[in-house]
Amino acid sequence: TDEPLVLGIETSCDETGVGVVRGRTLLADAVASSVDEHARFGGVVPEIASRAHLEAMVPTIERALAEAGVSARDLDGVAVTAGPGLAGALLVGVSAAKAYAYALGKPLYGVNHLASHIAVDQLEHGALPEPTMALLVSGGHSSLLLAPDITADVRPLGSTIDDAAGEAFDKIARILQLGFPGGPVIDRYAREGDPAAIAFPRGLTGPRDAPYDFSFSGLKTAVARWVEARRAAGENVPVADVAASFQEAVTDVLTRKAIRACRDEGVDHLMIGGGVAANTRLRALAEERCADAGITLRVPRPKLCTDNGAMVAALGAEMVARGRSVSSWDLPADSSLPV
Ligand code: KG4
Ligand code: ZN
Repeated sequence: TDEPLVLGIETSCDETGVGVVRGRTLLADAVASSVDEHARFGGVVPEIASRAHLEAMVPTIERALAEAGVSARDLDGVAVTAGPGLAGALLVGVSAAKAYAYALGKPLYGVNHLASHIAVDQLEHGALPEPTMALLVSGGHSSLLLAPDITADVRPLGSTIDDAAGEAFDKIARILQLGFPGGPVIDRYAREGDPAAIAFPRGLTGPRDAPYDFSFSGLKTAVARWVEARRAAGENVPVADVAASFQEAVTDVLTRKAIRACRDEGVDHLMIGGGVAANTRLRALAEERCADAGITLRVPRPKLCTDNGAMVAALGAEMVARGRSVSSWDLPADSSLPV
């Protein structure tokens, strides 16, 4: 086969991810997470993440190559997340990728983390239609992106003006004393709760508000106030109802705005990526609303939605296939790399 064999390295946050793909075929997806080390701080501690990446980097590369059953000598390129993300964490991946590519005499491809969250869907559902609309929702970002070409042209239509969607899940879980990360546990509790129990506010949905921007800090404050009032009155907090009502507010706004963006831009495909794309209610509501709007929904399986190396390899392989230019050996790790 003449499809490019690419190794991808991802270290933008707390996951050390190394993936191997051949074209749009996933061969390996090795992930070492330091999430447990951050749990007692209630959020990712950058210095801990960097050190964990350093320890996990080489073993994870070796694991991915073994899993893929390929030799590093046969690689057509080494792709790495150049940003955005935590500066120190990114630096570990970028340095490793450079050392590896240089030693093997392979081309280096620095890729954008957000674009690779979109590209990963190709491993699951084949070539992405151009353009594709992408809703990226994770602990670090909440963005609507229009992607005429994931390797060269991804346009941000809107993003959060305060907390990311995943961050909101994490903060609400903290208020409810459910631990970290909050998304999966809120998701679980919400299944037992009534999403209409409490009418929490939907941020930035007024007629004069930015159509594609998000805001979750007002919602967070509303939930905190509601819970505190119950506690102050000595009443029990109905955790499942709070979780379900909060989750409904977030997923309602995310899906509403994503579909509006598709309509306004005349795009008939929506992909959802990032850790929050694992959310059960987000998936169900998006399916329902996309079906009503005649939009085809693409959501990769949860393991490909959260940060991983396969997504980086997927975008790298697309860059090789399209003859995109190779990065130089002084490729910087850029914590605020624009898409
Ligand atoms: O993409 P990701 O692994 O890392 C970042 O780039 O941030 O996303 C992690 C975020 C966390 O905030 C976590 O709480 C959230 O994704 N998350 C979820 C679910 N699973 C993970 N949020 C809602 N529902 C879930 N099932
Ligand atoms: Zn991410």
